[in-house]
Amino acid sequence: MQSSSPRIIAKIENGIGWLIFNNPEKHNAISHDMRIASIEIMESFASNGDVRAVMMRGAGGKAFISGADISQFESAEKGDSNRWHETQTGEKFRQALEDFPKPLIAVIEGYCLGGGMMVAMSVDIRIASADSQFGIPAARLGIAYPVDGVRNLVNLAGPAKAREILLTGKRFDAQEALRIGLVNQVYDRTDMNGEVEALASSLRENAPLSMRATRIVIKELLKDESARSLETCEEVIRLCYTSEDFAEGRKAFAEKRRPVFKGV
Ligand code: COA
Repeated sequence: MQSSSPRIIAKIENGIGWLIFNNPEKHNAISHDMRIASIEIMESFASNGDVRAVMMRGAGGKAFISGADISQFESAEKGDSNRWHETQTGEKFRQALEDFPKPLIAVIEGYCLGGGMMVAMSVDIRIASADSQFGIPAARLGIAYPVDGVRNLVNLAGPAKAREILLTGKRFDAQEALRIGLVNQVYDRTDMNGEVEALASSLRENAPLSMRATRIVIKELLKDESARSLETCEEVIRLCYTSEDFAEGRKAFAEKRRPVFKGV
């Protein structure tokens, strides 16, 4: 697949869209052009019926993303409009992930820091290799983490751990990330590819409308009550019950075979 940045690789393999952060000489630090390319790729994955779920990974095996590319902070004197523009692309990318209609997975191997945590916390399921390292060093750089990033951190790890992570800026390991709920599973490196394939296999086979409903309902439930739309939730749930896939699901169960879902 065509990407507007050589530092973002996109491909579709057997029902899974892959978005690969490819800046290994900087531990996959994410730059402005990488965010723009990622947003474009996510738009194309969203509308491509061959893509049932999207998995993200860092190239090189040493990092998922080591954060925003700090070398691009050089123009970051107060009020600099480029820096502001940069922050906006970060927010747009986060929003693109939140609004994405299909399951999103982060496959974390190595460093997952700062803006990398932002990306990882915006997806549905995070799996990490046992040697991964996490952290949000914003306070060590003199910047503040965006509100939506802090909200995601609080939702996943709770306010006490969110405070500790942000105030100390310290790195922590995969076992700690698992214990506090930041990642769903931790695997040895040797088992990673097998586990990724097992996860991919269930996501490509499950009913797209059911998975979309789950994403939307959880997103709505995490909003403030005043901003929440229970009507939207009811609508996407209702859509499942009137879908061809629901008929196929019942038929396949009765016939003792695997259902073949189409997403309609
Ligand atoms: N932005 C820009 N460059 C980065 C980077 C980032 N977020 N993270 C790593 N790099 C660069 C390093 O500057 C170095 O470049 P160089 O070879 O030109 O000196 C290269 O990647 C390799 O990193 P290095 O620090 O030598 O590797 P390491 O294994 O000793 O440490 C990290 C790896 C990720 C722990 C360390 O690079 C680091 O702390 N990075 C910054 C993390 C951060 O603060 N992220 C939040 C940004 S908001």
